[in-house]
Amino acid sequence: MVSRAFSPSSAAALAASLLLAALPQPASAFYLPGVAPTSYKPGDTVPLYVNAIRPIAAPRDGVLHSVMSYDYYHPDLHFCAPADGPKSVGESLGSILFGDRIMTSPFELKMAQNETCKQLCAVTYEAESSQFVNMLIEKGYSLNWLVDGLPAGQEIIDDLTGTEFYSPGFLIGQDNGNNAIAFNNHYDIVVEYHEVSGNPDQLRVVGVLVQPSSLHYEDPNAVDCSLQHQAVVLDTKAGGKTPVQFTYSVYWTPSKTVWATRWDKYLHVVEPKIHWFSLINSAIIVVFLVLTVLSVMVRTLKKDIARYNRLDQINLDDLSGTSALDDGVQEDSGWKLVHGDVFRAPTHPLLLSVFLGNGAQLFVMTGFTIMFALLGFLSPSNRGSLGTIMVLLYTVLGFVGGYASARVYKAFGGEKWKLNIALTPLLVPGLVFSVFFLLDLFLWAKQSSGAVPFTTMLVIIGIWFVISVPLSFAGSWVGFRSAAIESPVHTNQIPRQIPPVTTYLKPIPSMLLVGILPFGAIFVELYFIMNSIWFSKIYYMFGFLFLCYGLMIITCAAVTVLMVYFLLCAENYHWQWRAFLAAGTTSLYIFGNAMIYWISKLSFSSLAGSVLYVGYSALISFLFFILTGSIGFFSSWWFTRKIYASIKVD
Ligand SMILES: *[C@@H]1O[C@H](CO)[C@@H](O)[C@H](O)[C@H]1NC(C)=O
Repeated sequence: MVSRAFSPSSAAALAASLLLAALPQPASAFYLPGVAPTSYKPGDTVPLYVNAIRPIAAPRDGVLHSVMSYDYYHPDLHFCAPADGPKSVGESLGSILFGDRIMTSPFELKMAQNETCKQLCAVTYEAESSQFVNMLIEKGYSLNWLVDGLPAGQEIIDDLTGTEFYSPGFLIGQDNGNNAIAFNNHYDIVVEYHEVSGNPDQLRVVGVLVQPSSLHYEDPNAVDCSLQHQAVVLDTKAGGKTPVQFTYSVYWTPSKTVWATRWDKYLHVVEPKIHWFSLINSAIIVVFLVLTVLSVMVRTLKKDIARYNRLDQINLDDLSGTSALDDGVQEDSGWKLVHGDVFRAPTHPLLLSVFLGNGAQLFVMTGFTIMFALLGFLSPSNRGSLGTIMVLLYTVLGFVGGYASARVYKAFGGEKWKLNIALTPLLVPGLVFSVFFLLDLFLWAKQSSGAVPFTTMLVIIGIWFVISVPLSFAGSWVGFRSAAIESPVHTNQIPRQIPPVTTYLKPIPSMLLVGILPFGAIFVELYFIMNSIWFSKIYYMFGFLFLCYGLMIITCAAVTVLMVYFLLCAENYHWQWRAFLAAGTTSLYIFGNAMIYWISKLSFSSLAGSVLYVGYSALISFLFFILTGSIGFFSSWWFTRKIYASIKVD
């Protein structure tokens, strides 16, 4: 009898699969990594799929020159297609949204059978195609192949740690300067395979490396793949024709790496020590700051409340005719003065409530996404699972958005409830979708494969209107049905005069001051996320992300509460929009950061590239604006309710 120990990891896997079973989504959309390995017998065909070609940092200057991706079978590339034409491989929604365009290829890989110098096809490049290909080579475009779900990579040695790792993708050609641009037409494919528990009939793919080279075969009948040949230089002069023969070799090498850890080499963390260091550094600063601020504030508040309630006592004593104690305290200062106005509805309550509903929706979505990621659902072996899960969660959480928006609007005493119900699921998503659509038009115009296909657009609109909007309506209905959130103090008929405020409490300085701290909490992680977005690096440091997200929430809440406290002390009771906008200013810093990143790491020669970059950055910043603004508002709301409930009024 063999008894299996119940390990923590299997407990986590169990919990995760229970969670999975409880979700109404199709199970095929995600699976736990390590659940479905494919075993091959020697000689079995292992499919090689090709994905869109993408720019990576150009080797000559380390700078990204484009954001446009192109289809592998772009007519100007003339890559060899299968005899019966390329077919597209089924992908998840998130995978399509994030730019995967996976197709079949003519490469024949037979498990554990070496092949040397197989010929694919012969193509003649006209001048126009040559110019296009050379442009791609100059900009550092790379080919992205997938063998058994693993990206074909190149082996790179990390200068800092000396460890070797696989960087996905390999270059179309080499730009050697002085117009000597070599086009790669031969691929040495090295596939590492692992024998499952010594069984020679159960072989699994655990690593894929491709070494491309440029071989100019003088005699088309003597194609020998020898590396002695000159490089292929495409003739870009008008009327120039360059014949190119595509060839490849396949080498299978046995490996000790097991299937479960085959991704480790791809998920190489660049400078992990520096990453940890800067993260802990910012975490300590943030926590220290927040704790100091909070402790000072709690003390001041306690004093305030005690003073106000003592004053109350004195006033009562006054009324009952006993001698009044005069200790010099006066009631004509501080936040208590605005008790009759602090819960007065803000201007434009409809817009604010719609933003807050969407913010709540984003907040919960982000939380769940990071949780799923920590549980391992979003492993890179599961292509596009991140995008899919975000779209699905956002859709399903439409209910939360509707509910939050309705409750806030009701608390504001809003009356246009029909408009609120309609705008909550339409305004913010509509805005985001419109911008997304406009940017997509740019990609379409440039024949980029990054353009989301029309059918996918329709699917998104379908999901939005068939699932998200009704769910949001349902949430709104529940929200409007429940009792209005009562304010702890009565609001006066006539609004108080607001005295002029000091400089740092003026709207713009206070916003800039408040926004910088939450930004500081996420700024290190942001750098890695941007690298993974723009340089197609695999992002998987969800532990770091979780920490940062937590830090951002805490800072955002704490700083906004502090600002609201100062504002109320200055007898300014227009805190609702101020809290939302001040916390939302974090997004302005995020946008600014994206611009600095542009200057330092990217260089676009085309207008389209710049427009796309600015457009996507603005889109992401806008979502951050809604998210952080809502965190700021809700924490301030909680805070004001708390403090005004603790003093006696009248
Ligand atoms: C295939 O080629 C690799 C690398 O040259 C070699 O290590 C391996 O033994 C070869 N396999 C077979 C089955 O010949």
